Amino acid sequence: MIHMQKQRPIRATGWRLARHALFTFNNRRLSQHLAPEKRTSLAHLHQTITRMRLPSGQMRLPGWLTPREQQTLYALAYLLPGPILEIGSWLGRSTACLASGIRDSTQAKTLVAVDLKLKPEYFRPYADKIGFFYPSTSDLPLAVVDKEDFTRNVEPIIRAPGGSRQVLRENLTNLDLIDLVHVVICDFRDAPVLPYRLVFCDVTHDPIEIERNIPDMAHLLAPGTILACHDIDATNEKCLHKLLPFRYSFMRDSLFVGEL
Ligand SMILES: C[S@@+](CC[C@H](N)C(=O)[O-])C[C@H]1O[C@@H](n2cnc3c(N)ncnc32)[C@H](O)[C@@H]1O
Repeated sequence: MIHMQKQRPIRATGWRLARHALFTFNNRRLSQHLAPEKRTSLAHLHQTITRMRLPSGQMRLPGWLTPREQQTLYALAYLLPGPILEIGSWLGRSTACLASGIRDSTQAKTLVAVDLKLKPEYFRPYADKIGFFYPSTSDLPLAVVDKEDFTRNVEPIIRAPGGSRQVLRENLTNLDLIDLVHVVICDFRDAPVLPYRLVFCDVTHDPIEIERNIPDMAHLLAPGTILACHDIDATNEKCLHKLLPFRYSFMRDSLFVGEL
């Protein structure tokens, strides 16, 4: 009996390879057209950032970044000089975008990724949601998550042995990116102090969290640093502008990108 060959995976692999080659070529061409003095100015980089693509397609890791946000982080890490700091890695969706950008730039750049050792006591019900209370004795949550999202996506990870740190390391290892990332488990207030040129910050979910966290990262920022913050709506953006003097900024979905 003759079995029909399954064509789908072959076509899919062919398309993936072609897309990878096309996007890699496109990114290299866009990057090569940038004059060296324009590489650190966000106003000059803005258009190029929006035209770059993630060659591997969107990261298939759990997380909340949209495809356009992932692509923006990838482009920032590709185009900007290091060192780069990530605050809030969770399971590595954003970390993988930043590390892939560094890898594809073929330049040596330090990427430090910090996250807390998350404990179940940081989470408890708040109104009809689950609040993130850090420290656990706080009265007000720094962020809230829908109950269903928490039960399905967060609780099993923080209760598992090794927690989110272990899954983060496994995810980066599986993507062959672990050697490009210094994974540091600490509060960002204790992060290694380096002359960061790009800081990606995923601890800015609402005005309370922004006002608690942004002033405490002043020692990690300097004039010229590019700060990207996730989960920014109009209220959060106003809050960021109130706290920091941005020379130039833009939004892509809920990712705020600003140059200090
Ligand atoms: C929304 S998640 C990050 C998602 C991740 N960037 C992604 O792309 O999937 C926020 C993360 O910030 C971390 N976090 C919150 N407060 C922090 C702090 N003070 N220092 C370091 N990490 C913190 C939390 O532990 C959590 O893992």
